[in-house]
Amino acid sequence: MVYIEDLKNHVGKKVELKGWVYNSRSSGKIKFLLLRDGTGIAQCIFFKGACEEKSFEQFAELTQETSVKVVGTVKEEPRSPGGFEIGAESFEIYGPSVEYPIGPKEHGVDFLMSHRHLWLRSKRQTAILRVRAEIMAAIQDFFDGRGFTRTDAPIFTPSACEGTSTLFETQYFDEKAYLSQSGQLYMEATAAALGKVYCFGPTFRAEKSKTRRHLIEFWMVEPEVAFNDLYDNMELAEQFVEYVVQRTLKNKAEELEVLERNTLALEKVIAPFPRLHYREAAEMIKKENPNFVIGDDFGGADETIVSSKFEKPLFVHHYPAAIKAFYMKEDPNEQGASLSCDLLATEGYGEIIGGGQREDNLDILTHKIDEHELNQDDFKWYTDLRRYGSFPHSGFGLGLERTVTWICGIQHVRETNPFPRLYGRSYP
Ligand code: 4AD
Ligand code: MG
Repeated sequence: MVYIEDLKNHVGKKVELKGWVYNSRSSGKIKFLLLRDGTGIAQCIFFKGACEEKSFEQFAELTQETSVKVVGTVKEEPRSPGGFEIGAESFEIYGPSVEYPIGPKEHGVDFLMSHRHLWLRSKRQTAILRVRAEIMAAIQDFFDGRGFTRTDAPIFTPSACEGTSTLFETQYFDEKAYLSQSGQLYMEATAAALGKVYCFGPTFRAEKSKTRRHLIEFWMVEPEVAFNDLYDNMELAEQFVEYVVQRTLKNKAEELEVLERNTLALEKVIAPFPRLHYREAAEMIKKENPNFVIGDDFGGADETIVSSKFEKPLFVHHYPAAIKAFYMKEDPNEQGASLSCDLLATEGYGEIIGGGQREDNLDILTHKIDEHELNQDDFKWYTDLRRYGSFPHSGFGLGLERTVTWICGIQHVRETNPFPRLYGRSYP
């Protein structure tokens, strides 16, 4: 069997192609079949007299998404998709497809989401999934190539990492457990064993809101580095994001074209990235959004106010400790400010990275756990990391789906996961 992407190696030869009907039409003595097999689309031409009589007569059975084997000869044809054409002899149907629910007409989002298992076959969705796969490979290659060890974190966890309000509670035999919001705390433990580590896997947040940026289940990559401070952390993050973006531009140009992505904006994603202290960013926001209260966290629109002033992704650092998680280290030189950093993507795509330097002082950390009304017993293992050879360390988490949304230049995060879990939707 031959794949459509390999047709160039078979010019003049007879081949068997297997795939699904993308489109078909008839015009007198010629019938055209567009066949897709996941690697590309090929035009197959059935000429009356040149192909098997039965195939010509039964051509109307080739309705959209019928699965089929086509036998024919490969010809070069610059006007055809991919530059080749099949002079077809015959076809054989594997599985019919009667009244395929997704047609060329516009469908509502809810309808498409309910048919996600079929919607995935469209040109746009396959382009997005290919970009996603490239980004995942780039993420792994970047860290593996820099001496990081991948040490994935558990999904069942005894406690919160990112606040109790978005915890997904579940049962772990006779005990309560929670689906992981972040692998970070575990990476702090493996960083003490291996120095430079990362995890990459699904994380869960019970976010009871419908936005363009929130999934209930999303993938996050979380590097953690022993002895890195906040500034080392931002340097690592900007080199990482540059690598992922530039590699995707190079390897997935065709897909980005299908998605009509303006790639000029992405070509400028070269380190170093600009950095703003929270205070500076907050003052910029206040000028354009008088309702914003300095000291509060940024909303999506607030992030856009600052990031729209820059051509590159932008770090905002030193957020007030009061609006950040319990593990953030406070800057000893600036009371109330945390050694945190978020990375805001270009073009209004908002936060794609959250991270910073971790509190490494046992007494302060114990106090923070109390302040956040968390249970000391759940964090005994975590505070042990400060009891036995505590070390300055930093890390960050990059949300995969938000990054794919940004790089693809699409509107909504729901199209970047093959089977997205959203507030109010867990089907299919
Ligand atoms: O800013 P967050 O909450 O940071 C953490 O979880 C840290 N513990 C990471 C670390 O330092 N190791 O989440 C990190 C990133 C966000 O910037 C965003 O890209 C993504 O995860 N994210 C989401 N993506 C989709 N849907 C959601 N509900 C998301 N919540 C966070
Ligand atoms: Mg965040």
